[in-house]
Amino acid sequence: MKGNVIVGQSGGPTAAINSSLAGVYRTAIDRGAKKVYGMLHGIEGLLKENYIDLSEHIRNDLDVELLKRTPAAYLGSCRYKLPDIHKDMEIYKKIFEILDKLEIEALVYIGGNDSMDTIKKLSDYAILTGSEIRFIGCPKTIDNDLALTDHTPGYGSAAKYIGTSVKEVIRDSLCLEYSGGVVTIIEIMGRNAGWLTGASILAKGEDCDGPDLIYLPEITFDLKKFEAKVKKLVEQKSSVVVCVSEGIHDKDGKYICELGNNSDFVDAFGHKQLTGTASFLANYIGNKLGCKTRGIELSTLQRAGSHLASRVDILEAYQVGGAAVLAADEGDTGKMVVLVRHSDDPYQCGTEVKDVHKIANDEKLVPKEWISKDGSYITDDFITYVRPLIQGDVSPIMVDGIPRHLYRPTKK
Ligand code: F6P
Repeated sequence: MKGNVIVGQSGGPTAAINSSLAGVYRTAIDRGAKKVYGMLHGIEGLLKENYIDLSEHIRNDLDVELLKRTPAAYLGSCRYKLPDIHKDMEIYKKIFEILDKLEIEALVYIGGNDSMDTIKKLSDYAILTGSEIRFIGCPKTIDNDLALTDHTPGYGSAAKYIGTSVKEVIRDSLCLEYSGGVVTIIEIMGRNAGWLTGASILAKGEDCDGPDLIYLPEITFDLKKFEAKVKKLVEQKSSVVVCVSEGIHDKDGKYICELGNNSDFVDAFGHKQLTGTASFLANYIGNKLGCKTRGIELSTLQRAGSHLASRVDILEAYQVGGAAVLAADEGDTGKMVVLVRHSDDPYQCGTEVKDVHKIANDEKLVPKEWISKDGSYITDDFITYVRPLIQGDVSPIMVDGIPRHLYRPTKK
């Protein structure tokens, strides 16, 4: 590479996004980039000229290894929507002035479907104005809802965390016997896509029956039918564990969490904050059936749990970071790196690049055939798909009994 590289992180954090950052950094240096800059808080921070020279922060091999094991977004993230190119050219002029000043040859943006909208718009603007800067998307999201890629880095580690945590909750719920039984509702992230909630089935094995019911947001949720199903189960067993997506909704599209005390917060992409489904359903069932209930929201824990990261996930995250730099160096722009699965067993997967215009703002949902007919469970196809992605461990580097992270001092 002749010029410099700049990299940003955007959208919801994951346990693997920093491994992609490490992959971008290492590959850019190996390919001869003079400098690798990191935008602080994505494109929003770049607009305020907030960036760092990564070589001043990632000083040696140990730092790279720590970065790969550090959850959240080392550079800070943002949920920022660039305006339509033809509506506000000024903002693009400003971004390109900053990029030119830094002698940027390639910009890599690590993010999900909303972040790919940024790559799409920046690459379109570059073509429109004859800029030679290349723009490449690097996939990331625990939601696993990006189109054209078999899966997204970040998903495997979150799936492993969810499968493990659900199994531990099931184990716990079997200890104490309450007259009338106990119903535990576990709420899992994923908005409109049920990939994460489906991963709760990983709790099932020789030593565990797994969740009793699994509800994905791809299927309309019927409160009355749900109540009837739980009632029947409570009559048969002392503990019932139900996994629900934060995005389950009724036939009118109203989120179930909105039936309770939900927050009204909406982000720049118009996404409503989803929270409170588990506590609403736990209260609802408790009142209707008169049994003990508990609502558990896995919330941030499921995307920050790097102590339970999947080795496959962390390695693939690193690999897609490198592939993004390689693609830019070979002249690609307006593309996103995708993971292409060649086989399940043995698991084999490689990378390619695809047109970001076909990915941005789209959502890949769980296929309907992978969901049981009555919408309250998932099929074995889902297990075949997800199991390879959670394999292997990445040992945290422990200091004083707690995982050590790569830490970037931040000023207020
Ligand atoms: O996009 C990833 C995600 O983790 C979604 O699953 C979830 O709905 C959302 O982010 C939550 O975002 P925030 O932490 O900004 O509330």
